[in-house]
Amino acid sequence: APVPPPDQKSCGTATITDGPAVPYSCCPPKPDDMDSVPYYKIPRMSKLRKRPAAQNVTEEYIAKYQLATSKMKELDKDQFDPLGFKQQANIHCAYCNNAYTMGDQKLQVHESWLFFPFHRWYLYFYERILGSLIDDPTFALPYWNWDHPSGMRLPPMFDVEGSSLYDARRNPQVRNGTIIDLGFFGDEVKTNEIQMITNNLLLMYRQMITNAPCPLLFFGEPYRFGSKPNPGQGTIENIPHTPVHIWTGTVRDTDLGNGVKSYGEDMGNFYSAGLDPVFYCHHANVDRMWNEWKALGGKRRDLTDNDWLNSEFFFYDENRDPWRVKVRDCLDSKKMGYDYEPTSTPWRNFKP
Ligand code: C2O
Repeated sequence: APVPPPDQKSCGTATITDGPAVPYSCCPPKPDDMDSVPYYKIPRMSKLRKRPAAQNVTEEYIAKYQLATSKMKELDKDQFDPLGFKQQANIHCAYCNNAYTMGDQKLQVHESWLFFPFHRWYLYFYERILGSLIDDPTFALPYWNWDHPSGMRLPPMFDVEGSSLYDARRNPQVRNGTIIDLGFFGDEVKTNEIQMITNNLLLMYRQMITNAPCPLLFFGEPYRFGSKPNPGQGTIENIPHTPVHIWTGTVRDTDLGNGVKSYGEDMGNFYSAGLDPVFYCHHANVDRMWNEWKALGGKRRDLTDNDWLNSEFFFYDENRDPWRVKVRDCLDSKKMGYDYEPTSTPWRNFKP
């Protein structure tokens, strides 16, 4: 059977990955009647939202994005406003840190075939909320173009102290244009920039092409009602998705101040990842990889298993209305109203 939307009544305490309980509740405000939450229908649109590559945006775009994010952060004054920045980050915490149960198991959307569709729907609503806060129905999130040499660093707009897009809880190594290591699991590799970029492109070729010739290898292992969490991740979730998180977050066990020790916050732990605005920019590129992978053709198509297609999630939209959404309704990003501004994909020809 498919995974049903999480049962809000039983939403409980979340746990920090590899750590103690999260010291606050990650549960969203409860809808009055969970059982009557309707199915979401993609609203009609006249123009596609075009997600730009983060390294190519204009000053005007940055100003709008910054403003939208600070408006979202202002909504945190009401800690139960589902549109607030913290509530938005808590969505990730609730779905990924054991706040929800599914049957007699904990619900976990990572390391399984729910990884791509869950994050697609999550960003879909996050983007609509930002757009509505600045009255721009065509606002589109930027994507962190880490698969292209010109995007292999923290996008500069996130590295401006005082900006709503800045987050102090990052590894200082990510500042000032350092080239990212897409295979980063905690050990710094001493190499030059050219070599690092070459490694990254090879890695992209491996994860998109060599190691993902068919759907289950790309999306991840089946995960159904009652499944044990973490059946197995797809190639892109494993690398570079996770390394980008670890590379950006603080180093584990370092002191975050006041004697609080780090569990990788913000980007390096599920419960806190959404507290860094760059999370949504990172995941826009993860989402773009789904489209790029299908564009490679051959057996690279969406899964057809009904348990995948009929799995559901729960989200609030920009009007604070609660909805159930299905995986089958998120397979085509254009039908959802957005697309990606194209950039070249040099990894396609990076055969080792
Ligand atoms: Cu839900 Cu990048 O993790």
